[in-house]
Amino acid sequence: MIVYTNSLTDVTAEHLVGGFFVGWPHPPSPADHLRLLRQSTAALLARRADGLVVGFITAISDEVSCAYIPHLEVLPEYQGQGIGSELVKHLLARFQHLYMIDLLCDAELQPFYARLGMRPITGMLVRNFDHQSCEPLSLPPEPGERP
Ligand SMILES: CC(C)(COP(=O)(O)OP(=O)(O)OC[C@H]1O[C@@H](n2cnc3c(N)ncnc32)[C@H](O)[C@@H]1OP(=O)(O)O)[C@@H](O)C(=O)NCCC(=O)NCCS
Repeated sequence: MIVYTNSLTDVTAEHLVGGFFVGWPHPPSPADHLRLLRQSTAALLARRADGLVVGFITAISDEVSCAYIPHLEVLPEYQGQGIGSELVKHLLARFQHLYMIDLLCDAELQPFYARLGMRPITGMLVRNFDHQSCEPLSLPPEPGERP
């Protein structure tokens, strides 16, 4: 049985080892995956009875006007069972009070999102592939900051 939850309290990196970020040359480690879940405005998980996370979706939002959905993924062996649709539906409902809810996707996925009430539009992006793994950076000090 799959349970949907926005609680991260008992989630550890060990629950995120199922094999997410398929096809990413430099995937985030489970520890960095947990960090990105915790630091999102909203994160929703699909979990197995033993706690393993089999799907997740995140959003970043100002909670005033807009929300952006950067991550949605279901483990390959759990795809095609409605989990991805359920995660999107929950998140769209969570942010229904906002003007904009945006995401980027490949054209082949547009019918999937259209079925859930979204519509296609063009967009622009930046991708810093050096930072794809999400490893914490040691940033240069800001002007006036002690090194
Ligand atoms: C996209 C994704 C989240 C869908 O999750 P899911 O649990 O399989 O979704 P559902 O079971 O609710 O819906 C499956 C439907 O999505 C369609 N779909 C899924 N991936 C697709 C793809 N890459 N291209 C076209 N259609 C796709 C399926 O054909 C299926 O349609 P059907 O019901 O008519 O057969 C999942 O395939 C996934 O994790 N993909 C890899 C990561 C990814 O692409 N994330 C989206 C980033 S924008």
